[in-house]
Amino acid sequence: METHTEFSPACCTMLVSVVLLGLCICFVFFQLRSRRTKNFPPGPPALPVLGNVLHLSLKNPLKDFERLRRTYGNVYSLFLGPKPVVIVSGMKAIKEALVNRGNDFAGRPQDLFVNDVTEGRGVILADYGPSWKEHRRFALMTLRNFGLGKNSMEERIHGELQYAVDTLAKNPGKAVSPGAMFHNMSSNIICQVLFGKRFEYDDEFLKVVVQCYRENAKITNGPWAMLYDSFPMIRNLPLPFAKAFKNFKTSQSFGLRLVAEHKKTRVQGEPRDFLDCYLDELVKRDNDDTTFSENELCSFALDLHFAGTDTTSNTLLTGFLYLMAYPHVQERCQQEIDQVLEGKLKAAFDDRHNMPYVQAVIHEVQRIANTVPLSVFHTTTKDTELMGFSIPKGIMIIPNLTSVLDEEGQWKFPNEFNPENFLNDQGEFLKPEAFMPFSAGPRMCLGEGLARMELFLIMVTLLRKFKFVWPEDAGEPDFTPVYGVTLSPKPYCMKVQLRAT
Ligand code: HEM
Repeated sequence: METHTEFSPACCTMLVSVVLLGLCICFVFFQLRSRRTKNFPPGPPALPVLGNVLHLSLKNPLKDFERLRRTYGNVYSLFLGPKPVVIVSGMKAIKEALVNRGNDFAGRPQDLFVNDVTEGRGVILADYGPSWKEHRRFALMTLRNFGLGKNSMEERIHGELQYAVDTLAKNPGKAVSPGAMFHNMSSNIICQVLFGKRFEYDDEFLKVVVQCYRENAKITNGPWAMLYDSFPMIRNLPLPFAKAFKNFKTSQSFGLRLVAEHKKTRVQGEPRDFLDCYLDELVKRDNDDTTFSENELCSFALDLHFAGTDTTSNTLLTGFLYLMAYPHVQERCQQEIDQVLEGKLKAAFDDRHNMPYVQAVIHEVQRIANTVPLSVFHTTTKDTELMGFSIPKGIMIIPNLTSVLDEEGQWKFPNEFNPENFLNDQGEFLKPEAFMPFSAGPRMCLGEGLARMELFLIMVTLLRKFKFVWPEDAGEPDFTPVYGVTLSPKPYCMKVQLRAT
């Protein structure tokens, strides 16, 4: 007897539904299953597509990074969309990564928003390899050479400072907004080295280019950049991140104009500035296997200009904000400065050895300013290890410098502005190992020497001449920084009084 199995339409629908449901469950299971490979640093579970983006405030993730560190430790991982990222915190882990295993961690990501904005050129974001090595070595050597000799770096800094002194002296007792002044001053100091000239404070170059840098420093670590990095499908949409591309093009056109001018007027073997040195070098290396090229030059110079402008000026802005809020610290600096410089026309960088308190204040300003809070992102250059975890080649690394600059156990007063953090019981200056605002290891800031000289000479000269007072009608000072690649204080005004010297 034949039997027929017949399915009713309802039965078919149910079967299809069960199969679909099964597929969905499998899909969700595979998406939710930990995407972390064996012995990869731990971290919160990641959602399909979104990864851990919802764990972070896109506007300012610094507090979230700290919260996650308390749960997962000094080496943990997150997913930005599909991309795994390792966040390294605390002095011990950061030193192991950036110093002890420096070369393993010396790469730079090549697939981020900033790489697209800067068209993959320049030294700051160059991946670990011959081009980065050659350009870094050249920059260090050229900066050092410009520090020596007759028109030394100290003289250039003092020359530029005079303009700021004159500007401030014209406004005694008035409240002035120092933001543009510090940016212009830092920009002009590095401009003299790079391009052999300074620009008047109302020059288009300064006004336009410095504004582009300030904006890009905020956009680059901002919410739109994070979305751009996490979700590649939105990259071609006309969203607010497009402004950063426009800003880069604007700065580039100024840079290209300066390179063209230099090519016309230079004399081989008689370099006037950094651009000339590079152009000389290009001729010398003509037949060699070199990564130097005219195409690289503009981005290289703009990188140094950008890196030397926003960082130094934001540190100065933080410094003067705190010096006004802590007038007794300002006065003690002035006493020491008056005593050491008595009878001298101007300060020399070497005077710092006789000014332990001023040194302590400047370092404390750098610690509290936390100017580059997440350093510049690194990548691993090979399969490696960190604090016992395995990290494959090509993983993005975020060195959380903030977590070292206020790390409990490393500082006498981690959470307050207090120069005692840099003084021993005898009142001598000492620099704890956790002082890392310039990062550490092979990618460490290459402008550290210049930045330290600028901070010292500018702060000492201005404090010797003026007293800085928080305006009575300005309410309480707001110390909350504005987040970006660089942190900056909110715009503020200061009252300037001439000191009797
Ligand atoms: C207070 C001032 C400054 C601070 C706090 C600062 C901080 C930093 C930090 C944290 C990095 C990232 C290091 C890393 O990736 O691990 C860096 C890189 C860099 N800085 Fe600075 N910087 C300052 C001033 C300057 C100046 C004046 C120059 C100009 C010559 C400069 C040029 C650079 C360059 C070219 C890099 C990239 C180095 C590389 O990738 O090899 N910086 N800086």
